[in-house]
Amino acid sequence: MKRILKGVGLLLGVLVGLVVVAAGVLYVRTGMKLNKTYEVTPAVTSVRADSVQLARGNHLAQILFCNECHGEGMAGNVMVDAPPFRMIAPNLTAGAGGIGRTFTDADWDRALRHGVGPDGKVNIVMPAPMFHHLSDADAEALIAYLKTLEPVDNELAPTEIRFLGRVLFNFMLDVEQYAVAAHTPVTHPTPGPTRDYGQYLTSIACTECHGEDLRGGPSFAPEGPPVPDLTAAGAWTFDLFKTALRDGVRPSGQAIDPEWMPVEAFQHMTDDEMQAIHQYLQTLPDQAVVAAN
Ligand code: HEC
Ligand code: HEC
Repeated sequence: MKRILKGVGLLLGVLVGLVVVAAGVLYVRTGMKLNKTYEVTPAVTSVRADSVQLARGNHLAQILFCNECHGEGMAGNVMVDAPPFRMIAPNLTAGAGGIGRTFTDADWDRALRHGVGPDGKVNIVMPAPMFHHLSDADAEALIAYLKTLEPVDNELAPTEIRFLGRVLFNFMLDVEQYAVAAHTPVTHPTPGPTRDYGQYLTSIACTECHGEDLRGGPSFAPEGPPVPDLTAAGAWTFDLFKTALRDGVRPSGQAIDPEWMPVEAFQHMTDDEMQAIHQYLQTLPDQAVVAAN
């Protein structure tokens, strides 16, 4: 009996040892990905700040839902505080604890369109791969506006990813996907209710969740709803589409959950912008209907 116990004990010991080694390997692997540095040459190096540019930047900041994560006035926000990690979206203002104090125009662009900090390391969770689609002109407008944010003193302890968090990230979060080192120059089409401008708007405001092809996919958190394919919404009348975006209500009367879709931010879209997006969605190949037949 004792012998068996001893054997079991030994086996358990080996198993525990293996688990510890595996966790250690995952810990180191995520650490390497988080500490990897990316060489980025920001295309925006100087920013004018005339009233037209500032107004454009302000509007973009609203519809690109920055404050959903960075908090009221972009003064910083604790997004998650759980045992595996504490994640903050930093204070973007020039108040105490804010990056606006030190960021150069190039630093802003590197963070915004490349997801990389001044130290060359990736900024996780920040949807830079989507903002990567911003044109140089719009990136400049956004940066011009961010530099005028009302300074707010808010010193937050930095993001901390603890042992378990690092191990979990191997399964939950592809850390490297948040960094986009290359610069792909984009010139945005003239704003107006056109398909082309709609395509541009979806690229900067919808693709992070609905996918590059807007076909949706599984939910991004176990407790979240699946992300819908937007071709169906293209088939709604414009009025119904507008109600969905502005009031967060689908044609069926069912609400679009503001917890998972930035409905509040999209309320700031103009009718022209909604029309442009609607026009673009109508031109997506109708795979949903094909699949249903
Ligand atoms: C989904 C949440 C989310 C949204 C939306 C978001 N951010 Fe972020 N952002 C973050 C997080 C989280 C970080 C910090 C990442 C880290 O520390 O690894 C961050 C980092 C940044 C940084 C770099 C800060 C630093 O300390 O280096 C800038 C600049 C920034 N965001 C600007 C913006 C702007 C401008 C917008 C809107 C156009 C925006 N963010 C939208 C979550 C978000
Ligand atoms: C942060 C993630 C996120 C972003 C960004 C986002 N959506 Fe969504 N969207 C969702 C999720 C999740 C749902 C499903 C919500 C639910 O089931 O309540 C949804 C639902 C919708 C619906 C309802 C579709 C249907 O068939 O029921 C429409 C329409 C929609 N989104 C349009 C857009 C448009 C247009 C944009 C860009 C301007 C956009 N979304 C950007 C996450 C997002």
